[in-house]
Amino acid sequence: MRKKLVAGNWKMHGSLADNAALLAAIKPALAGIEAAVCVPFPYLAQVQAALAGSSLSWGAQNLSEQAKGAFTGEVSSAMLLDFGCTYVIVGHSERRSLYGESDELVAKKYLAAQAAGLTPILCVGESLDERESGVTEQVVARQLDAVIGMAGVASLAKAVVAYEPVWAIGTGKTASPEQAQAVHAFIRGKIATLDAGVAEGLTIQYGGSVKAANAAELMAQPDIDGGLIGGASLIADEFVAICRAAAQ
Ligand code: 13P
Repeated sequence: MRKKLVAGNWKMHGSLADNAALLAAIKPALAGIEAAVCVPFPYLAQVQAALAGSSLSWGAQNLSEQAKGAFTGEVSSAMLLDFGCTYVIVGHSERRSLYGESDELVAKKYLAAQAAGLTPILCVGESLDERESGVTEQVVARQLDAVIGMAGVASLAKAVVAYEPVWAIGTGKTASPEQAQAVHAFIRGKIATLDAGVAEGLTIQYGGSVKAANAAELMAQPDIDGGLIGGASLIADEFVAICRAAAQ
């Protein structure tokens, strides 16, 4: 069976005090359940200290495509490894739209993550305009092809894909389980045309306004293998309930 994984994306939220309280609440509640939190860079050391030895993993929300050098403000894959990261999100729609990350740059970041032994969580998804124009599949295919073209389909055996429709992120508008399942099945089917084994084993998360109240029906879909959780990952009870729903 393929692995289910819920990951929290804290985005640019948190403080030492708030994080300590959140981690102290989720760690015992999720004992034995594999889940992850992707936190702002300055808090990686705090999260590493709090979660080391538990069933929870941690990671970052971005990384540089460069290995090292004069790149002011950037953070490398090796630095993330220094803090025990397992995962790193690449190509989140906020990075694509607000910071101009192209498909090509996202693919380079994905490669940099894998070269260091980190597991990239590759985000794909369409905007509202694109959905309404009927090009959801083309957009998701283009985003996947950029990575497959540069890293090869076999690389997906060591990656997680997150389908995050942009119109569902932070809006309270979740894709219906059927809408999400349809795109997840498309993603798996597309990859299966290249490598059936990789497609079958690939963890595909859904992200976009996932909450405790809608997690179970999303996670029950055959091609939804967990979630990438924004706002609800900052609320201990919500995050714990979502992780438990996925683990069932
Ligand atoms: P929300 O769960 O806040 O909608 O955010 C989803 C997301 O962008 C996770 O990466």
